[in-house]
Formats: sequence, C-alpha cells, structure tokens
Amino acid sequence: MKRIGVVGCGLMGSGIAQMSALNGYATTVVEINDEVLKKGIANIYDFLEKGKKRGKVTDEQIEAVKKNLSTATSLSALKDCDLVIEAVTENTDLKKKLFKDLSEITRPDCILATNTSSISITEIATVVKNPERMVGMHFFNPVPIMKLVEVIRGLATTDAVMAACREYALSIGKEPITCSDTPAFVVNKLLIPYLLDAVRMVQDGIATPEDVDKAMVHGCGYPMGPITLLDYVGLDTTCHAADVMYEEFREPKYAAPVLLRRMVQAGRWGRKSGRGFYSYEKK
Ligand code: CAA
Repeated sequence: MKRIGVVGCGLMGSGIAQMSALNGYATTVVEINDEVLKKGIANIYDFLEKGKKRGKVTDEQIEAVKKNLSTATSLSALKDCDLVIEAVTENTDLKKKLFKDLSEITRPDCILATNTSSISITEIATVVKNPERMVGMHFFNPVPIMKLVEVIRGLATTDAVMAACREYALSIGKEPITCSDTPAFVVNKLLIPYLLDAVRMVQDGIATPEDVDKAMVHGCGYPMGPITLLDYVGLDTTCHAADVMYEEFREPKYAAPVLLRRMVQAGRWGRKSGRGFYSYEKK
C-alpha cells in the first residue's frame, strides 16, 4: 500500500490521517468544506507540537506529516488510493451513501474500511461494488496514543483484505486484533455496558460523577473514570452504540439510561460540544 485516503477529519479521522502520513504513506484527508478541514489539520499539528515538547515527536516526523498529508473537499481526490478509511458520524444511511460513492470513485481493488464502532460491516458492504474489499478498521481515541485497531471481517471480506489491513495497522505502530462482524466488536461489547452502568449510578443518585470516576481511577487503576471517558468518547457516540447493541441483542444491559438520552437530546455530548457531565467551556 502506498496511497491512503481518510474521509472525515474530526477526532478519529485526523488521528488516522496523522499516523498514516507520519509513517510514510501519501495520505489524503477529505472533509465537507475547508473550514472543517482547517480545524482538523490544526488539531494534528497542535498534537504534534505538544508531542515535540514532551520529547515524543521529532522534527523529522513533523516534516513527514507535512510532506505526506494533503487535503481535499471532494471524494474524487481518492480515486488512486489503495486503502480508504472512513471516519464520519455514526449514521448508517450516511455511511452507506458515502461507501456507494466511494465504491464508484475508487479502483475496484481499493480496500474500503470503516472506522465504525458499532454498525455492521456486512450491511455497509451491500452498497459496495466488490463487497469482498469492505472491512472494519476500528481505531481508539486518542488515535495517535491508543495502540489497538480492531480489524473486522464482514461476511464477504477476503483473507487477503484482512491480512493487508493488519499489515497496514502494524506499519503505523498499532496492535491489530481480528474479530467477526458482531455489534460493537470486542472493546465496545465490554466497554459500553460499563459506561451505561456508570450513568445509571449517577442517574439513581448512588454517587456523584466525580466519585464514580474516583472509584475506578483509585480503586482499579484505570487511567480515566467512566464518566470522564464518556465525555471523552462522546455521549452521542456511546448512546448510538448502545442503541445498536440493544436493537441486536435485546438485553437490558445495553439499554441506554434515560439520563444519557436526555443529555444527548440537550446537546451535552461531552468534550466535543463543550459540555457533558463536566464542562469544557473556555472561561
Ligand atoms: N504526542 C505524543 N505522545 C503523547 C502526546 C502527544 N501530543 N500526548 C501524550 N503523549 C504520550 C505521553 O508521552 C504518554 O506516553 P508514555 O506512556 O510513554 O509516557 C502517553 O501518551 C500518555 O500521556 P499522559 O500520561 O500525559 O496522559 P494521561 O496520563 O493523561 O493519559 C490518555 C491520557 C492516554 C487519554 C489516558 O487517560 C487514557 O488512556 N484514557 C483512556 C482512553 C480510552 O479508553 N480510550 C478508548 C475510548 S473507546 C474508543 O475510542 C472507541 C469507541 O468506539 C467509543
């Protein structure tokens, strides 16, 4: 693989684009307009500069990103890519429309990957020409730091596509695992019920968000408490993942608590909207 396309330059897309460019791939990131692109690219360089101050990122790596990363506002810029990774909002219709377009624009052998955290790879593949090239590549936030990539096999995905995606993940410094196309894959199947239980605790007045967080940080050594993690991942993303899991499994542990849904309805999505369980508004 030489040319990588990334669709979406938000939290996840910008991290994926950064890691690809930094590791020598000619990377094109596509967004809906220049304003969104500018914000995403600024986040990449901000992260790299902070990394440099910590002694974790070298000038050569920053130069590699500058050299290898390009931007576009049209999917046609991805026509020569070997692999395209989509990281747009978790919305099945949106993703299907996007992959239908991508499957017409890209070469027939271009691997098409989605960074979905819960939507079925097999379902998205129904709109793709040559569905054997459709695969899941689920990264974790913050992408440049979290090592894991879940490589998810849809019903049609070939061994060659799975192997190529694992190889690519390794080449950008990640640890791939392989799993089948089951809702929420491995991490979120374990993580989402835990996060939902934390919200239920706050909702039922068992403990404050601060104390729920303290409990898991100081009691179990987790780097972040579940409420902080929810704000970090996004309440909207978590609620959507829970809904998909509940729809599929019909188990109460996957049912989104009322408090979570109300907060999503109120636009309190966490860090990305400036307010979740905690406030991130600049004073
Ligand atoms: N550039 C390079 N390296 C950087 C960096 C930067 N700008 N910023 C931080 N780092 C490095 C640090 O040097 C440090 O490395 P070492 O461990 O080698 O020393 C490491 O990253 C951690 O940095 P810090 O110690 O400063 O930061 P922290 O302790 O506050 O940790 C965190 C931050 C990594 C986010 C940590 O809190 C954490 O792991 N939280 C949990 C995150 C998590 O669970 N993510 C998955 C969410 S689920 C998801 O994403 C998927 C989904 O579908 C919902």
